[in-house]
Amino acid sequence: MIDPVWQTALAYLIGTIMGGQIVGWLRGGVDLRTQGSGNLGATNALRTQGARFAVGVLAIDVIKGVVASVVVPALPGLGEPLLDRRQQAYLCGVAVAVGHCYPITAGFRGGKGVATLAGVFGALMGAALPWMLAGFALVVMLTGYVSLATLMSALIAVLIVTCFSAAGLFSDAGAFTLAMTALVVWKHRDNLRRLLAGNEHRFEKAMVLRR
Ligand code: G3P
Repeated sequence: MIDPVWQTALAYLIGTIMGGQIVGWLRGGVDLRTQGSGNLGATNALRTQGARFAVGVLAIDVIKGVVASVVVPALPGLGEPLLDRRQQAYLCGVAVAVGHCYPITAGFRGGKGVATLAGVFGALMGAALPWMLAGFALVVMLTGYVSLATLMSALIAVLIVTCFSAAGLFSDAGAFTLAMTALVVWKHRDNLRRLLAGNEHRFEKAMVLRR
C-alpha cells in the first residue's frame, strides 16, 4: 500500500472513536443516539446529560481531529509518498471527519463533525479558528441555536479562505474547506429544516447550568 491510502484509512479509523460512545459507556451505558436530537456529539450530550458529560465528549472528539491531521501524516510511509505532508494532512482531516460522521463502529450513525473539525482546523489553519469560534459564540449567545452557530462557523471558514488566499494565506486549503463545509451542511440538513420550521432545539442558559 502507498502512504495516502493507509494514512487516510488510519485517520478514518481514529474518527470512528466516538467521544459520545466512550463517555456513554463510562457512565453506565448511556446511548446519546436514543436521546435528544439523536446525535452522538457534544451538543446533544450537553442537552441530555449535562456539562461534565459534554466536556468529555468534546475533548475526545477535538483531540482525535488533532491527532489524525498532525500525527498520522507524520508517520513513516509504507511506500513512495504521492502527496506532500500538507496535502496528506488535509486528506487525513477529511478522513477523520468522515469517520466521525459515518463510523463503521456505530452503524454509520455518528456526530456532525463539528468538534472533530475544530481540532483539524485548529491544527492546520490555526489563524482561522479564532474567527470561526468568535462567530460561533456570537450566534449561540444571540440565538441559542448551536446548529445555526455551527453553520455560521463553516461560512466564516469559506470566507476567510476566499479572502486571504489571494495573499497566500490558506491558499492550499480551498478544496478541503469547501469539502468540509459541504459535509457539515449535509449533516445539519435536519437542523436546517427545523430552523426553517421554527422548531429547532434551542439552548437556554438554565438548561446548561441545571446539571
Ligand atoms: O454539534 C452539532 C450541532 O451543530 C447540532 O447538534 O444535537 O442540535 O443536532 P444537534
